Amino acid sequence: MKTKITELFDIEHPVIQGGMHYVGFAELAAAVSKAGGLGIITGLTQGTPEKLANEIAKCKDMTDKPFGVNLTFLPSLTPPDYPGLIKVIIEGGVKIVETAGRSPAEYMPALKDAGIKVIHKCTSVRHSLKAQSVGCDAISVDGFECGGHPGEDDIPNFILLPRAADELEIPFVASGGMADARSLVAAMALGAEGMNMGTRFIATEEAPVHENVKKAIVNASELDTRLIMRSLTNTERVLANPAVDRLMEKEKALGDKLTFSDIVDEVAGVYPTIMMDGDMDAGAWSCGMVAGLVYDIPSVKELIDRIVNEAEEIIQSKLKQAV
Ligand SMILES: Cc1cc2nc3c(=O)[nH]c(=O)nc-3n(C[C@H](O)[C@H](O)[C@H](O)COP(=O)(O)O)c2cc1C
Repeated sequence: MKTKITELFDIEHPVIQGGMHYVGFAELAAAVSKAGGLGIITGLTQGTPEKLANEIAKCKDMTDKPFGVNLTFLPSLTPPDYPGLIKVIIEGGVKIVETAGRSPAEYMPALKDAGIKVIHKCTSVRHSLKAQSVGCDAISVDGFECGGHPGEDDIPNFILLPRAADELEIPFVASGGMADARSLVAAMALGAEGMNMGTRFIATEEAPVHENVKKAIVNASELDTRLIMRSLTNTERVLANPAVDRLMEKEKALGDKLTFSDIVDEVAGVYPTIMMDGDMDAGAWSCGMVAGLVYDIPSVKELIDRIVNEAEEIIQSKLKQAV
């Protein structure tokens, strides 16, 4: 398939794997890029510029196709070394960066001077317009359905995507709730130039996470996610489990008095234990409603080929016959 996004990033299929903490390692990013999509390494999981440089080098050994690095800008008392991370991205020859969390304005000159294309992921039309105005090349429009941080507006993709199409001049992909060929065709009908998937890519053979994580996604239904940390204006969509139940009990009891320190046991530093050790109840971990549409654990290539082939089939037969 050819869209503005495949042309912008020089990829074969308009399918992107969004950055994911403790999931977006070189193994997954390379598998997605090799299969013709755009794989993305998660910068902050590496933590230091040295470790990110090694992960970029590892990914380059695994594929000669384009891949990107995600930089998530989080509110933090001790912020990560973003200039250092950007330096190794540039030195490593990476040509695509996915930004998220807040506006990348501060880092745009460095990224643009190095010829890097920036796709900013955000959850509203106003943030998309801001990203466009600071020089981003594309947007990943992340609807309310998404795993991770859906923002505070709660606008699902059936509204958000056509609203983005009505306002934006730069191309965008649909993110949140995307799982299969139907998602891709629908996203394109709503104005997107492709799609970004998180949760669906975790349940693949190459995702370097414990089997329990993949099985938890396959076993979950669309009813099994919860929104946490709303009162901290840091809403996150996670898979329900006993730790999330505990956290939500505290939210109910403390209301607006809840502080981060009240829930630190359920959210801080839990990703390695969950993703690497497969201790699924160790804390809250991001997961999209789309888990209800994930029925298997294919290879990344099988998944992407299936999406693209079935999308072409839907467009050529079903949609053509309707007119
Ligand atoms: C386990 C997990 C971890 C994630 N970590 C990050 C992250 O570190 N930075 C980021 O920008 N997005 C992160 N995301 C969001 C994804 O990149 C993507 O936008 C989202 O999963 C799309 O929604 P979907 O899960 O319905 O496909 C994460 C998502 C999941 C499921």
